Amino acid sequence: MESELSSKVSQCKRSLSRKSLRLAVKSQAWQPTQSEWMLAAQCVQSEEKARIGKFVFQKDCKSAMIGRLLIRAASAHMLNIAYPDIKLTRTERGKPQILNTLPADYQHYSFNISHQEDFVVLAAEKEREVGVDVMNSISQRGDSMPKFFSLMKRHLTDREWTTVTSQPTEREQMKMFYRHWCLKESVVKTLGIGIGYEFGKLDFRIQTTDLQPNHIVQDTTVHIEGKLDTDWSFEETMLEDHCAVVAIRNQQNNNQSKETNSRNSFHLCSVPELLTCCVPLAGSSPDLEYWKTFSAKLEKPVRMS
Ligand SMILES: CC(C)(COP(=O)(O)OP(=O)(O)OC[C@H]1O[C@@H](n2cnc3c(N)ncnc32)[C@H](O)[C@@H]1OP(=O)(O)O)[C@@H](O)C(=O)NCCC(=O)NCCS
Repeated sequence: MESELSSKVSQCKRSLSRKSLRLAVKSQAWQPTQSEWMLAAQCVQSEEKARIGKFVFQKDCKSAMIGRLLIRAASAHMLNIAYPDIKLTRTERGKPQILNTLPADYQHYSFNISHQEDFVVLAAEKEREVGVDVMNSISQRGDSMPKFFSLMKRHLTDREWTTVTSQPTEREQMKMFYRHWCLKESVVKTLGIGIGYEFGKLDFRIQTTDLQPNHIVQDTTVHIEGKLDTDWSFEETMLEDHCAVVAIRNQQNNNQSKETNSRNSFHLCSVPELLTCCVPLAGSSPDLEYWKTFSAKLEKPVRMS
């Protein structure tokens, strides 16, 4: 058992040193012990610790905490900066950014995270702008599908709706809808724009209809305001029932980026593995109150029957 864990940790660390990085953590499977939660809290900046502490439900605390640990661990390894020395801030629109002076060949380092339901995912790139989105594409929504689609009408183009509604079953139509949604979010997140961007300006052309786990689809293209934009490339896959999309913007050599990307797939990491890559920040100390507040919270809202 011990050696199995240590081999997974070295796998995780090897993966963390690559030029392009894709990590996924199953957040809801993590039931933090007191020592894990207190250690995690010492490994994130104080303002983020405070933000995480304000969530009402444990599930949201865990996703947000894992997101921060992923960003710090990935940045420390990719940039070869000591974990406690990583300094993060957020743009006006909430996108996390690195404040450290970057090594000369890492000037375009970029990263992004996404969390929804079971998964927290991170994409990081040494030389290119990146954005990521993950979404459960199977779970039932409260509304009927036609009502849901009519509410979402303006966010997809007519062509995209044709792609969605030509899928043979309701389940596949829903999956195709969320795939488009993730594609759009991944672009918006690469650009660092928040609420307000008109999703309808982005028109995705999907070539490979079938999206499966352990397989990366890379042939989707985007037209922006009616024009094919070859600066963008996409990596799409399924993580169990979740659609995961990475958008990459590369203005120099798109063909080369597609070649590199063909090796990228999400490396699944557990929280204990991730924690072995994290180091308490200077000035932090174990905070028992923080654990007590967390452990008193409900995991998630109680469903009224
Ligand atoms: C900000 C936004 C991009 C976040 O996306 P989301 O799907 O809600 O959430 P995700 O889990 O994918 O991403 C959240 C993470 O993205 C990062 N993030 C926050 N703001 C961001 C921004 N402006 N750009 C990129 N990344 C951002 C953060 O790391 C955040 O996690 P954290 O707060 O725990 O650190 C999204 O809420 C948004 O504004 N989208 C605009 C799309 C739109 O206008 N849609 C039509 C309206 S219905």
